[in-house]
Amino acid sequence: MNLISQKSSSLSGVVVCPGDKSISQRIIIIGSLLNCEMEINGFLNAKDPISTINALNDLGASILFDQKQVILKKRKIPFKDPSVDLNFGNSGTGSRLMLGLISGLGLKSTLIGDKSLSKRPMNRVIKPLLEMGAEIESSKGMLPITTTGSKIKDNFEYKMPIASAQVKSCLLISALASKKNIKIIEPKITRDHTERMIENFGGEIIYGNNLNPGIIHLKSSKIRSKDQYNVPGDFSSAAFVIIATIISKNSETIIKNVGLNKTRNGLLKVLNLMGADVKIKNKKIISNEEVGDIIVKSSNLIGVDVPEDIIPNIIDEIPILSIAASFANGVTKIKNAAELRVKESDRLDAISEGLRKLNIQHYLYDDGISIIGSPEDVTCEDAIDSFEDHRIAMSFLVSGIRSKNFVRVKNCQNIETSFPNFTKTMNLLGMRING
Ligand code: S3P
Repeated sequence: MNLISQKSSSLSGVVVCPGDKSISQRIIIIGSLLNCEMEINGFLNAKDPISTINALNDLGASILFDQKQVILKKRKIPFKDPSVDLNFGNSGTGSRLMLGLISGLGLKSTLIGDKSLSKRPMNRVIKPLLEMGAEIESSKGMLPITTTGSKIKDNFEYKMPIASAQVKSCLLISALASKKNIKIIEPKITRDHTERMIENFGGEIIYGNNLNPGIIHLKSSKIRSKDQYNVPGDFSSAAFVIIATIISKNSETIIKNVGLNKTRNGLLKVLNLMGADVKIKNKKIISNEEVGDIIVKSSNLIGVDVPEDIIPNIIDEIPILSIAASFANGVTKIKNAAELRVKESDRLDAISEGLRKLNIQHYLYDDGISIIGSPEDVTCEDAIDSFEDHRIAMSFLVSGIRSKNFVRVKNCQNIETSFPNFTKTMNLLGMRING
């Protein structure tokens, strides 16, 4: 599916973004382990978390869902080996977290995914799970993966070589499912939704301190049920509205009920350094996650060196940050972000390809990109390829706001994996996206 984003003038209005993808994935997995009746509000009704629901139901979970709500029911049977292959579609998070669950439960299964997911590295989770006692087979460390059982060790310790919340969460979920404790050391702070959720349900975690940072020690994997969980709006989806508003003239938008977890909202810190006009109101804690409303106005940005420690906290926002950088005054440099090469697409190459079509000067590194911004509007004669990556598609559609005519983006189907109402939401605010 190709989409065209025409030049637009000002954006205004109030929107609510879809539910957080990372949290939606985690609550159905951890909720299924709790084996209780639970109402989940604000769940992301999109392809990625729905493949996880289907996989969980294939293991014997009892999850009901419709457009508005997800209800977890008490399982009638213990978890069982699935009779079909578990298909995770495009979802790296779903497949990696579920591999943790399945290994923890010692089930026999085969995990598969789409073309893009089948090329993504899985050894980052297979290796520690094998050390932990899981039995897993895969060809070349990629999907399809087969699990044949497990004997999970208690008090396993793992020092992660890469900063990845998916790896950390896979291991924590495996420990939870096998009712064991675990100590993980991460090289940089990554999103902590799994830890917060475990604590929300009564599990006990001890964290490192300034002298010994990055330690996550699950001391008690005993979790207790609650009858409700509320998923906040997805900050990563809100990021498209934030940048679209910033780069539009005379614009102001409000995004309600967005997750503001500080391991996720690094983009706000970068935008602050760039001089953006973004404010937060109505902060509160819901289901152990911070949420609030974001008020954003058009801003003249300046280029910055993005602090390297913040990269894991903005990893999903770098494609749209590249669009902001393109219209800033000066150079924005992003380094230490090689993980972008193993996302739904090679996002560094995909960003570079798109910027080239927009005639935006940039330098590509192995682990990052420098963008030479200019407040001038852009011309784009050639269609931009999204490489079937939802965040690349949405980012370049946003760039259409500042085109002299329009920007055409190819292969936008996968927007459905995270933000099914993207076109509708953005058009309500004043963008002009159509098929
Ligand atoms: C996610 C973690 C990030 C992120 C992904 C979702 C999660 O991946 O890119 O979209 O839900 O834990 P890594 O932890 O592998 O960097």
